[in-house]
Amino acid sequence: MRRFLLQTFGCQMNMHDSRRIEEVLYAQGYEATDAPELADLIVFNTCSIREKADHKLLSTVGTFRPLKERKRELVIAVAGCMAQQQGKALLARADLVDIVLGPDNIPELPELVRHVQNGGKPIARTEFDLDQPAFLTARVRPDRPEVASYVTVMKGCDERCTYCIVPYTRGSERYRPATDIVREIQTLCEGGVREITLLGQTVNSWHEPVRPEVGSQPIAQGLKLSALMQQPVAESQFAELVRRIAREVPALARLRYTSPHPRHVTDALVLAHRELPILPAHVHLPMQSGSDRVLRRMLRRYRRHTFLEKARALQASRPGFTLSTDIIVGFPGETDSDFEDTLSLMREVGFVSVFGFKYSPRPHTPALRLSDDIPESVKSERLARLFEVADELQVQHHAQLVGQMVEVLVDGPSKEAGHVAGRSERHELVHVAVPSGTDWTGRLVRARVTQAKKRSLFAILEMPLPAAARDLPSARKMPVRLPLVVS
Ligand code: SAH
Ligand code: SF4
Ligand code: F3S
Repeated sequence: MRRFLLQTFGCQMNMHDSRRIEEVLYAQGYEATDAPELADLIVFNTCSIREKADHKLLSTVGTFRPLKERKRELVIAVAGCMAQQQGKALLARADLVDIVLGPDNIPELPELVRHVQNGGKPIARTEFDLDQPAFLTARVRPDRPEVASYVTVMKGCDERCTYCIVPYTRGSERYRPATDIVREIQTLCEGGVREITLLGQTVNSWHEPVRPEVGSQPIAQGLKLSALMQQPVAESQFAELVRRIAREVPALARLRYTSPHPRHVTDALVLAHRELPILPAHVHLPMQSGSDRVLRRMLRRYRRHTFLEKARALQASRPGFTLSTDIIVGFPGETDSDFEDTLSLMREVGFVSVFGFKYSPRPHTPALRLSDDIPESVKSERLARLFEVADELQVQHHAQLVGQMVEVLVDGPSKEAGHVAGRSERHELVHVAVPSGTDWTGRLVRARVTQAKKRSLFAILEMPLPAAARDLPSARKMPVRLPLVVS
């Protein structure tokens, strides 16, 4: 039996890619292992978004040197954004690495492993599939049923935010036809999945792949990207996509998406949030900065007031709607007053969760031309203040949920005895006290919040009870209040 060990770094795209790497390897008869000494193949699926990732990868790979020296036939592969960014250069920098594999080259992994095992030289494969984009689909695994799954709707990014390496590591935007997206979601739901997160770097810019009007072949038949570039930029059709999924996959309980770009938060999308219960009452909407001066230098293509308008429109779409965000501190030239603008916009919007990052200069990015002039100590201080405000907002939000009803999609058992864990309609982590003896996994239940912790909520299943659930013998015996099962 051949075995692989896979370590994943980075964002949801990488998590999703890792699942596809696993599938490609399972199809070749590999088995997963957590024990490096049992592995024939070790794959690092890497992230390159900040500089630290680079050092971390090299030191992590380095820890496998004694093993590789003992076990010459062990193959080490580096996949993901770092692999794409560095290509062949990575082979020169890290002598332990046998394979460098870009995100669009995942299906080639087994062939490359065979090449190395047959005595071939270390090899890098980092070609983007620009002409014929492929979207690897998730396979249902009856032995490992999932409640939630990701589905890619677009890949790459054409935004060119000046600090960001992603357009370089993931290439130009490529869109997936709605029919394929809907089909994949249907298949996943038939396999038991209840929640789908649509994935894309600017997920809400989605539109049907643009086809040339005359004289050329559709993309799937080999249209050159250069021809595509001359097409007018299509309007976002993301709201229509969401409506189509809701209509054609009635078994789906929840439909999330990440990451939306604020400039593609359209009236149509806000209306979809108002009308479709399948959409959650929460969106992660990256803000990056609250200062117009900084936003302009970041090339974010929106301003403070337009961001606030979009945020307000989403928040008004449903009672209790919440937003989370990403923020960068210490972008070149960020003054104290720019940073104060960020804190004030954070409060004004009232984000319930904030991912904060210190600006990190990245290769190939336009911001490199601006000197990284904010001292590390100032970046650290600003980040700490940002987290203080973020914590305050989160604690406030959680506290006012006590006593309220939440709708929880149960992921499985919680680490708290007598509880199951799941996510609320706003994506809060909720531990729900449940009667034992019933498998609640994959069910959408109503619960009343009893206690708010900093990062999670505690709740109990709530009355009144529909007949089917009332019949559960274990539920009748339990001292907790009785459950309302929504589905
Ligand atoms: N496509 C997503 C973001 C992907 S990267 C979007 O636009 O929302 C995730 C986050 O990493 C970004 O939102 C940004 O806050 C942060 N980030 C990206 N490049 C960075 C850099 N050079 N330094 C620090 N943080 C960065
Ligand atoms: Fe990076 Fe901006 Fe694209 Fe997001 S939208 S991936 S931050 S360039
Ligand atoms: Fe990192 Fe690549 Fe995602 S750089 S954040 S793994 S797209």
